[in-house]
Amino acid sequence: MIRIGVLASGSGSNLQAILDACADGRIDGRVAAVVSNVPEARALERARLAGAAAEVVASKGVADRAAYDRQLVAVLRRHGVDLVALAGYMRLVTPAFLEAFGPSLARNGCPAVMNIHPALLPSFPGLHAQRQALDYGVRFSGCTVHFVDAGTDTGPVVVQAVVPVLPGDTEASLSARILREEHRIYPEALQWFAEGRLSVEGRRVTLRSAAAPTLDGVCNPSRDR
Ligand code: GRF
Repeated sequence: MIRIGVLASGSGSNLQAILDACADGRIDGRVAAVVSNVPEARALERARLAGAAAEVVASKGVADRAAYDRQLVAVLRRHGVDLVALAGYMRLVTPAFLEAFGPSLARNGCPAVMNIHPALLPSFPGLHAQRQALDYGVRFSGCTVHFVDAGTDTGPVVVQAVVPVLPGDTEASLSARILREEHRIYPEALQWFAEGRLSVEGRRVTLRSAAAPTLDGVCNPSRDR
């Protein structure tokens, strides 16, 4: 059972998907804390309703980003967080943060920080990804769950989902179509991490097959795919 810390700045619909997946057993874990840099974020209310700890580390007017991240790390550590899920968290994390939750041998080289981005990376990183996709005129977009590194949406890709861009789409309609896929793949990726099935080498993430029970009920290590 992993203890997930979610960082969110806004509505928190991805947080909700994670809370729901923990509650119904699709993620073998629990949301140990939700931390927001925005005191009025709806994500905090969702956390409280689900009985998860909700904390604010206000970022407004804080110029020293590394000092801010050290505060965040202290809060996440206090809640015993094993994995940090960025879910609509509108700040870049600093090297100080990444060192605290960085890649480790015990986790097969996986950093313990994941993010979800509403585009098929490496296309359209950064802000307003759905608008960027519409303006560019792509026929397909989607979302990406990736491990977090020091860049903007540049870390190793864990899983992606594709959606069509339809004639007449607006930023709102495309965002809604992508968001449905976000809510599906983010909990799935977190469960893979919880099961220890992910490993990272360079930019490449490998997902090990789930152990299959044999007839005598003993699990065999199964092949990588
Ligand atoms: C999502 O589209 C996510 O991919 C992006 O910010 C949005 C957050 O939505 N990083 P929500 O707060 O989870 O509803």
